[in-house]
Amino acid sequence: MNASSRAADLLGRMSLEEKLDLLSGVDGMYTKGVPRIGVRRLRMADASMGLRDGEMEATAFPASIALAATWSRERAQDYGAAVGEEFRSAGIDVVLGPGVNLYRVHECGRNFEYLGEDPWLAASLVVPYIRAVQAKGVAATVKHFVCNNTDWHRCVSNSVVDERALRELYFLPFEAAVCDASVLCMMTSYNLVNGEYAGESRRLLSDVVLGEWGFRGLIMSDWGGLWNPAPAVTSGLHLEMPEAKAFDPAAIRTMIEEGVISQADVDTRALRVLELTARIEELQLEIPNPNRGRIEEHAGVALEVAREGIVLLKNEADALPLEPGATTIAAVGPAVDPTPTSGGGAAAVSAVDPVSIAEAIVAVCPQACLLREADGGTDEVLSKADAALVCVGYDGEREREGCDRPFALPPDQVELIRRAAAVAGRTIVVIVAGGGVEMAGWADEVDAIIHLWYPGEIGARALAEILFGEVNPSGKLPVSIERRAEDRASAPNYLPPGGELYEKPDYVSQDAIPYDVRYAEGVFAGYRHLDALKIEPLFAFGHGLSYTSYSYRDLRVEPDGDRLVVTFTVTNDGERDGKETAQVYVRPPAALADSVPRRLAGFAKHLVPSGGLVEYRVEVPARAFASWEEGGWRRPTGRYTVEVGASSRDLRLKAAVELDEFRPGGAGGVL
Ligand code: BGC
Repeated sequence: MNASSRAADLLGRMSLEEKLDLLSGVDGMYTKGVPRIGVRRLRMADASMGLRDGEMEATAFPASIALAATWSRERAQDYGAAVGEEFRSAGIDVVLGPGVNLYRVHECGRNFEYLGEDPWLAASLVVPYIRAVQAKGVAATVKHFVCNNTDWHRCVSNSVVDERALRELYFLPFEAAVCDASVLCMMTSYNLVNGEYAGESRRLLSDVVLGEWGFRGLIMSDWGGLWNPAPAVTSGLHLEMPEAKAFDPAAIRTMIEEGVISQADVDTRALRVLELTARIEELQLEIPNPNRGRIEEHAGVALEVAREGIVLLKNEADALPLEPGATTIAAVGPAVDPTPTSGGGAAAVSAVDPVSIAEAIVAVCPQACLLREADGGTDEVLSKADAALVCVGYDGEREREGCDRPFALPPDQVELIRRAAAVAGRTIVVIVAGGGVEMAGWADEVDAIIHLWYPGEIGARALAEILFGEVNPSGKLPVSIERRAEDRASAPNYLPPGGELYEKPDYVSQDAIPYDVRYAEGVFAGYRHLDALKIEPLFAFGHGLSYTSYSYRDLRVEPDGDRLVVTFTVTNDGERDGKETAQVYVRPPAALADSVPRRLAGFAKHLVPSGGLVEYRVEVPARAFASWEEGGWRRPTGRYTVEVGASSRDLRLKAAVELDEFRPGGAGGVL
């Protein structure tokens, strides 16, 4: 018997009381099971950056945003496979990740848990991640559906978003998770969307996710994220976590008597819990359990993700790499040792024996002379050094779930950067944070800037390898970093008037005053806004330097069914091998009203040997640049321009293609 028939059979043997009981969790992280008929509990744990469990040791991977900065489907797959294996070995059935809320404001305290500002990039990476997790016999949970793009009093914020922006931006990675990756679970978000709590919205859950996308898996609430029993019970959501509140069995019984919900609706929900359990049992019979606890090779996966995700933002006059033998380095700043491994909250994996930046420098280049502030005071070590490495940013205390953090760095850190720049021969700034920080005020004064993100247990080693040229950097920004906070599209529509950032997390309280976050920029978010208004960012979406240089040529764009096949050649003109992420953007026909200037529609990353070349081939499905118009997807007739390059502001090749109207349909997949 397959999982669905088994689940249906079990449902037929259950009383109403047992069914009602199954609709909520227990003991923090479990489904309840039905012991009388042998249905076991499912165990869940957080999540996308590795296993967070108070008792078990686990690999602490780089933050999800670092994965996004790799622009690598292979790294996403390896990361997902490693996470899946650790969960499976630990006896956990459901991974409460990955998170794919788009990066709307720099301040969001959970940006580090997500995959950047672009829906196509997020969708392209989340699909291999989820498939790889589930191929290990555990369920993935795509979260938090939807528009949880700030953590500022998240339980009272109402994201007011137009339909087109929902479809083209905020829904898209979720839709890909459902339709392309067959994700087994989805988690709703804490916030309201257009006036309804996400977990209580029939329109979001029944109409879109279950109806239009045909989701066959289980929709659970975020922890304590349902408040109003009647809409929660009728929205389409199947499971309330971590325990019954809105889904109180006695209250649902009354709702059945009053006709708010039928017994058949209860059956539908209970059936999903049974189906998930049966499906996981089936997968676990097919796929052997590695049974190895924390798996040593996974540090290697974490290291590779860090190597490819670290972004070299600026490298004036080849300040990097450092010459290994001849360098005295003053490493200063709060992130030198210990180096924060992760932002805080549900995603934080406590790293066993994490490597700090100071330790990594000594390990990678024992001959380098490393000076620390303790070796004579900040000014003295800075003045003695060939290179100052200023390691600044945030940590899991200040950048975390339940609150947001400033775009600007703390003033004492900016002061430290300036002191170093004034005194040291060369100043290299390393940013440890879950997203962009304000840099324009000091970026011109320093020689090099590197974004490390949150590096997990071993990513600091990748940083040292990049500093000394053992690894050629290849990460690219999954977000735009503007010169001024007000240049960001979302800037006028974020905190309510008078709202101030706070530091102590607010997890599930509704004590704050409800407020609207108007997504007035619509689809003109992130780089789309900067391109439309011709605002020069400090560092553009897709930007990231290398120690070599690449040239692009021979662009061809061929329609193939409803896809475009884009091919071109990338040559490595420098002396080091390197990995280059080439990006494909599509500009709509000039005549189209309300179109964003360009959209990321594909990308590919390949190793290009020094002096060699690689033929790139990128398939662009119609959905990558179709728009949501009057209830459906449409790619209008016209002349489209395909642009290819190294970032959204470094486009090297261009070709036009005439296309007829096409209406990509239904639940057939996004990618
Ligand atoms: C977070 C979720 C997490 C859940 C369980 C919530 O506070 O928002 O992302 O999966 O807790 O720990």
